[in-house]
Amino acid sequence: MTEIKYITIEEAINKKPQTVNLRGWVYRERKSNKFVFIVLRDESDIIQCVISKSKNAELFEKAEKLTIESSVKVSGELKEDDRAPSGFEVSVTEMEIVQIANPFPITEHQSPELLYDNRHLWIRSRKLNAVLKVRHTVVGAIHQFFRSRGYYEFDAPIFQPSQSEGGATLFEVKYFEDVMYLSQTWQLYAEAGIFSLGKIYNMGPTFRAEKSKTSRHLAEFWMAEMEAAWMTLDELTEVAKDEIRFIVQEVLKHNKKELEILERDVKLLEHYAEAEYPTIKYAEALEILNNKYQMNVPWGKDLRTMEEAKIAEHFKVPVIVTHYPTEIMGFYKPPSEENPKEALCFDALAPEGYCEIIGGSQRSLLVDDMKKRLEADGEDPGNYEWYFALRNYGSVPHSGYGLGVERVVQWMCGLDNIKDAIPFPRTMIRKSP
Ligand code: 4AD
Ligand code: MG
Repeated sequence: MTEIKYITIEEAINKKPQTVNLRGWVYRERKSNKFVFIVLRDESDIIQCVISKSKNAELFEKAEKLTIESSVKVSGELKEDDRAPSGFEVSVTEMEIVQIANPFPITEHQSPELLYDNRHLWIRSRKLNAVLKVRHTVVGAIHQFFRSRGYYEFDAPIFQPSQSEGGATLFEVKYFEDVMYLSQTWQLYAEAGIFSLGKIYNMGPTFRAEKSKTSRHLAEFWMAEMEAAWMTLDELTEVAKDEIRFIVQEVLKHNKKELEILERDVKLLEHYAEAEYPTIKYAEALEILNNKYQMNVPWGKDLRTMEEAKIAEHFKVPVIVTHYPTEIMGFYKPPSEENPKEALCFDALAPEGYCEIIGGSQRSLLVDDMKKRLEADGEDPGNYEWYFALRNYGSVPHSGYGLGVERVVQWMCGLDNIKDAIPFPRTMIRKSP
């Protein structure tokens, strides 16, 4: 017996009309007295298949039993057909039903909550399939970006003994007889790693007990971080710009079809792929907010989402904002020498309301200052002795940043909610499936 060679729907469409063997799931079905039409889907695309009663009554009877999401193998003649959704149609000559699906719980026009409850099924939707492909590109681009620039991949523990981004969002976990915390960032360990490997990066799961129910926060997300010895803030922000631009270029290169399914404005992405991104100081951002938009933001206050959105709207491209007030920044963000009220740090803000996608800084070398700032946050500096010790063994200027993978996927895909940028989202109120 010769084995049947199956190809994907995309491969079938790209080949000349011919006999094809396909396997997949029933995406849509429509029955009349003379024909059964099914739209078959697989990982690559969808295609209309038609089963004609007059040509094969037995096959027609079998096809009538098909329900949405039933799994099938079909063989038939592929023809161009303007009336079919993808411009092609398969006239089916053979069919094997692998499983008849139960009535599918997701029908058209479902509430978002029902879709999240059925996430295990909804990830097969055309929308999520497209998002997950864009995510695949984004993740691949990040690895490619850093590896091609000589960065080593370096892993840090997920169980960590202390906080690094504020105690309020720590997840505490039982650890044998002790407690530990789930990683809020790879950074502190990366600051040890650079003394061995120089320039390093990582992408890993990151946890924050975010109590706010926004469309931009997850409790579990993936952060792509980098850290480099000898690097200053000026050099750091240029790396961030190059990384963002490279990701946009890769998405445009690999995901035209997905962007179309997602109805993403490709012209905008093409603009981001070419444009220069401005760098401004926090103080200049306030001038824009207060003069152009009459927002009255006093110096010393962190920018809220609506304020970040205005800044990015003003420039219409990703913007780097540096030198936020030291007082409201994390303990490791150093005061600038010229003006200690300003920290050597930055955020990258994406346009179209997507806001902060990257946060980073030069790293403080001032152990006493860091201890004071930790104490002011109610932390015991004693838990950070190993970290401070790094400043005693050949300390050098160094910098790094973290990029929110889902934030970038959300922006690339033009998604309203960050929950759709990850297969199985975790938020304060979303724990399953
Ligand atoms: O700005 P953050 O908190 O920076 C740090 O954690 C640094 N230690 C990173 C570093 O310098 N190595 O977080 C970095 C990015 C944010 O800009 C945002 O894109 C994303 O991580 N992020 C979140 N994404 C989804 N849900 C959340 N709850 C997020 N919190 C941060
Ligand atoms: Mg931040």
